[in-house]
Amino acid sequence: MVNTLHKKYKSLFYIPKNWIYLDGNSLGPLTKNIKNSISKVVTDEWGEQIIKGWNKSNWMTQPDRIGNVIAKLIGASKNTVTVGDTLAIKLFQAISGAHQISKKKGLILSDKSNFPSDLYIANSYLKDKNLSKVRLVSKNKIVDELNKGEASILMLTHVDYRTGELYDLKKISKIARNMGIITIWDFAHSIGALPLSVKKDDIDFAVGCTYKYLCGGPGSPAFIYVNPKHINKINPIIAGWLGHENPFNFDLSYKPAKDIRRFRIGTPPVIQMSALEEVLKIWETVDIDLIRKEAISLTSLFINKINNSKLKLSLISPKNPKKRGNQVAYKTENAYEKMQALIDLDVIGDYREPNIMRFGFNPLYNSEDDVIRATEILKKICNEELWKKNKYSKRKLVT
Ligand SMILES: Cc1ncc(COP(=O)(O)O)c(C=O)c1O
Repeated sequence: MVNTLHKKYKSLFYIPKNWIYLDGNSLGPLTKNIKNSISKVVTDEWGEQIIKGWNKSNWMTQPDRIGNVIAKLIGASKNTVTVGDTLAIKLFQAISGAHQISKKKGLILSDKSNFPSDLYIANSYLKDKNLSKVRLVSKNKIVDELNKGEASILMLTHVDYRTGELYDLKKISKIARNMGIITIWDFAHSIGALPLSVKKDDIDFAVGCTYKYLCGGPGSPAFIYVNPKHINKINPIIAGWLGHENPFNFDLSYKPAKDIRRFRIGTPPVIQMSALEEVLKIWETVDIDLIRKEAISLTSLFINKINNSKLKLSLISPKNPKKRGNQVAYKTENAYEKMQALIDLDVIGDYREPNIMRFGFNPLYNSEDDVIRATEILKKICNEELWKKNKYSKRKLVT
């Protein structure tokens, strides 16, 4: 198929000239509308209004408004998503919520290749409650484990952060539901990449970040979705004043809001929220089914080109495009050095342990031409051993 989205959308982004940006699964690029609007937020709102901005510029309701736009992107109903804090914190809230509504004993099931931070968070929660650590199994054993019926909570990342392997969310959530197991899905690598339908699939919780495919900016706030049937049954684990039903009453006793706002915690980061709210205006115009279709075409072309190059790279992402997200990963010796050489030649991907080169594709700004040029440059780096230069072996803090 011929990809067309980049023709309409690429000009909305700032991507340095000649860069082939294949790292939007880690941090999305800046959009021109954010750049223009942020200086206005700073000068016209913060600058001119100072404290009045909370009412006059409606800063206080940003998490509710943004939550409703995100709700559309994940197939949720209105007022079931809120935004703030980081994914780690939203996940902690989801785990506590899941534990409160689960009728079972507190066993969390996850897979061995889950994002380590998710497992640290879950284990820190369990340790505090004197419960056993997360039960970790291989991805292909998750269904067997669910069928044993021992788990209380299933906590999975929908798209594997390294390999891009995609869970069959619908099927797995259904099995979990039938076994009375509460589901928490991490959509860090799904939102803005794949069509999602949390309501139809009747999942319990979803969390995700907004700085990857959505392009909300470095450290932009995370989101939490809570199935409306659970919202009012959960006592927020972090009872901040902005989750109170009436924060400006300054009651000494905490009464959680009677809706999704009980998952808010504290003061929203207005500048980051404003950036996110602005970029979401672009997302409101995007056909997510088309994004997915074009991403499949880009990742498939990338894999074909690498296959034809006869390079010693082994694909660790699923070959079947329906089983992978919008990213592709290869294992190879000296992957770090090869990735540094690629970055030096303006092909931006990233490195993950162990020896993995990772490439993310966003059809809003990536084209077939990017894929062809990126694979040619990778071929040159490997065939001419350009990666052997000393400067490429020095490990940076962020890889
Ligand atoms: C799958 C996944 N989960 C969780 C996180 C952690 O997100 P944060 O640092 O925003 O809390 C990340 C970060 O990249 C991630 O990829």
